[in-house]
Amino acid sequence: MNSQRALIPMAWTRALLEEREVRTPEGTFILTLEREDLSPLYPTMERYTLTLWAGKRAAAVFRTNTYEYSPTVGLDPLSVARQRARQWEEGLKDDPLEFLAYLKKIPLRAPPALPLTDVVVVQGSPRADGNCSILAGWVAEEVRASGKSVQVLYPDDMDIHPCIGCYQCYNTGTCTFDDEMEGVVRALRYARLLIVCSPVYTNTVPAGLKALIDRCQALHATLNFTGRRIRMEVVCGLLLGVCGRQGQENFACLTQVVEVFMENLGITVAGMVLVDGVDRVRDIRTIPGLEGRVRAVVQTALSTSCSPS
Ligand SMILES: Cc1cc2nc3c(=O)[nH]c(=O)nc-3n(C[C@H](O)[C@H](O)[C@H](O)COP(=O)(O)O)c2cc1C
Repeated sequence: MNSQRALIPMAWTRALLEEREVRTPEGTFILTLEREDLSPLYPTMERYTLTLWAGKRAAAVFRTNTYEYSPTVGLDPLSVARQRARQWEEGLKDDPLEFLAYLKKIPLRAPPALPLTDVVVVQGSPRADGNCSILAGWVAEEVRASGKSVQVLYPDDMDIHPCIGCYQCYNTGTCTFDDEMEGVVRALRYARLLIVCSPVYTNTVPAGLKALIDRCQALHATLNFTGRRIRMEVVCGLLLGVCGRQGQENFACLTQVVEVFMENLGITVAGMVLVDGVDRVRDIRTIPGLEGRVRAVVQTALSTSCSPS
């Protein structure tokens, strides 16, 4: 992900490359092909949008961008968009009603159900009874005690396919994979506070949490590139980290990963509690004052994030 990310859509240029009338017995349709220069956010990225207009209504939209095509495939997005335009034109001329019905049949996916809550806690450890689970438990208790709703997500137990870098989300705002991530994104957009609890695994986050983080690329794309008017409610985030080795330097990478994750979604990291030298399951309970410190950080974040704006 580019370090120059921005949540407010940047100005990028859009040029109409082609406009074509398709006359059929059911009326005249217009095909337009536009090119957008998205390089202010991603170096050299261009996106091509093919739109089939039925009067003022866009009956179908196809998008493709330069980042989808690795140098070895011998394809480029302009040729692919033109090829699609030819297919649409042929389909329309052949049997316009059948072709339009075919376009409408492209299924819209229902997002898997996850509750919508004021606070989302992402518990990144694969250990259901480990230190991060204990932290997540304290957090959830504190949130409920303040009258807010909360859910704890366990990425390791969820069906979240790792991102494959297909860059389709920069065309559509949605991911190629149809799994539990869609529900996670809905929950993240609704929540006012995001809390990540994570152990350090080889200096970074465990694989399940990393998959969830990478898959938020689609949300980042929607916020920045697709022009869809969506709102992120989340105002701030917290990181509660645990590692086995002694020394705060062991969190250097973990904190960066979580900071970049949150920044990409426009979330300010409002606080961190990083507990080093904790290796045995349940060790964390024995640390004097830790539970109180965690609860206090959550309280402060709740008062800034969840107060009416
Ligand atoms: C695969 C793996 C990699 C780990 N890598 C590190 C590491 O790089 N640095 C460190 O300080 N601790 C490391 N640890 C230790 C964990 O961070 C530590 O045990 C933590 O308390 C586990 O949290 P949990 O109980 O919530 O699972 C690693 C543990 C595992 C299982």
